[in-house]
Amino acid sequence: MTLYGVGLGPGDAGLITVRGREILESADVVYTPGRLSRAVAGEYVDEDQLGDLDFPMTRDEEKLRRAWKAAAAEIAPTAKGGTAAFVTLGDPNVYSTFGHLCRTLDRFHPEVDLEVIPGVSTVTAFATAFDVEITAGSELVLREADGGAAPVGPDRLVLFKVTDVPATHEGLIEAGYEVTYGRRLFMEGQETVVTDDPSELAERDYYTVAYAEKPDAGEEPATAAFGEETTADGGQIAEQLAAAESAGDGEAYRDADGDTTEQ
Ligand SMILES: C[S@@+](CC[C@H](N)C(=O)[O-])C[C@H]1O[C@@H](n2cnc3c(N)ncnc32)[C@H](O)[C@@H]1O
Repeated sequence: MTLYGVGLGPGDAGLITVRGREILESADVVYTPGRLSRAVAGEYVDEDQLGDLDFPMTRDEEKLRRAWKAAAAEIAPTAKGGTAAFVTLGDPNVYSTFGHLCRTLDRFHPEVDLEVIPGVSTVTAFATAFDVEITAGSELVLREADGGAAPVGPDRLVLFKVTDVPATHEGLIEAGYEVTYGRRLFMEGQETVVTDDPSELAERDYYTVAYAEKPDAGEEPATAAFGEETTADGGQIAEQLAAAESAGDGEAYRDADGDTTEQ
């Protein structure tokens, strides 16, 4: 009855959503568009539940349309008679092959219902991997940097498809950005690299993302600017305790565990 597009997250099987996992476990067939997504889905379903689809490595639009028609023709009977899932790394609606499948099913198999289960996208997962905080009020723009491209302009950029890191790095530095790169983030069993040194990533790898930020981008959040105080209570309790102790009354400021309590 339904084809579910299930986001697997960036590659660690532990980062799939609970709902995504439930759909995979109950699906009659789970279709995977590549080796990496197959490995993640394989953590939750038996080998014989996995369906392979063939996609040519081409930009030829006619060949691509033919391949998606063939994929849709393969998936539609399963989805009509039961439950099928099509998985993608990250989120199915972010720079993903799932859009091709949706359009082709809509056009040639409109009786198939479609539902999407979102996944953790690299668009957000990079922030944790790079220990970066995107603060409220920030402008953050997603672009592609294929073949050494260095899109510039906004204060903060996430760049997908950074296939020539040294060339992209040169352009970004020239435009005044500070840049961090991540390769194969959160991918189980793969070599994950996070670095600001482009020479470490000179070899091409499609699964490379960059975060570029202009120094002084955005406003400092309120909590980035505390005053001189060294304790969360501004030192008041410590001062009151010291005064009470010197007056021989310190017990009133301690609880049963000996911690100070607010009076
Ligand atoms: C076609 S997009 C797929 C995006 C995916 N649907 C998502 O939501 O994350 C592929 C690009 O995403 C980035 N990417 C995806 N997974 C990644 C990972 N685990 N580590 C680093 N970059 C990743 C790379 O820049 C890669 O070129």
